[in-house]
Amino acid sequence: MSKAMRGKSASNRLAPEKEPAPHVKTLKDLIAAEHACRRCPLYRDATQVVPGEGPGHATMMMVGEQPGDQEDIAGHPFVGPAGRMLDRAIVEAGIDRGRVFVTNAVKPFKFEPRGKRRLHKRPNAYEIERCRWWLDLERAIVKPSLIVALGATAARSLYGRTVTINKLRGTLQTLEDGARVLVTMHPSSLLRSRDDADRRAKYRDFVADLELAARILESR
Ligand code: URA
Repeated sequence: MSKAMRGKSASNRLAPEKEPAPHVKTLKDLIAAEHACRRCPLYRDATQVVPGEGPGHATMMMVGEQPGDQEDIAGHPFVGPAGRMLDRAIVEAGIDRGRVFVTNAVKPFKFEPRGKRRLHKRPNAYEIERCRWWLDLERAIVKPSLIVALGATAARSLYGRTVTINKLRGTLQTLEDGARVLVTMHPSSLLRSRDDADRRAKYRDFVADLELAARILESR
């Protein structure tokens, strides 16, 4: 087995969590617990933890990867360029953003300093696993009818293993715990498109996935 493969399978087999998650029953208590989190080293460099936001009984939960530079400063999820793209697509898909709980798989911003800039760095399997506690608690409190996983990191957190986005994309899936999940792309992947035509095509697909999410909720 190659070194790369050994690394990959090891990251998919992280030891099960021994420490019990905190007994929090409200979003307010959850946010306080998240702010005190020291479960992985990411808290050291981030400005703050960025907890999920939205109504306590939202029917839809959207899960992104991690806060970006602007979210880290503002303390709110999806307020930067990817968030603006997401907001636009949500409106076009006919979803009321005010009824969606928006959160991330990893709550602190992971970055690499480059001069005065902070470049986004993808969270690794360990960081995703350590932060999963908080996503599980958000899910337990909000109890959404449908979870939309925005990209590979969100899907990795929800499934507890690496999944291939293109295989699952646009189909309603049920997790082992019975939760219904729709996997789609991350809005920031649209910002990295090759050219305008590619971006428009990807954006149409993204809106189509969100329209499907809206229909699934309507047909409950
Ligand atoms: N990307 C994410 O995944 N989450 C955010 O909050 C912002 C950008």
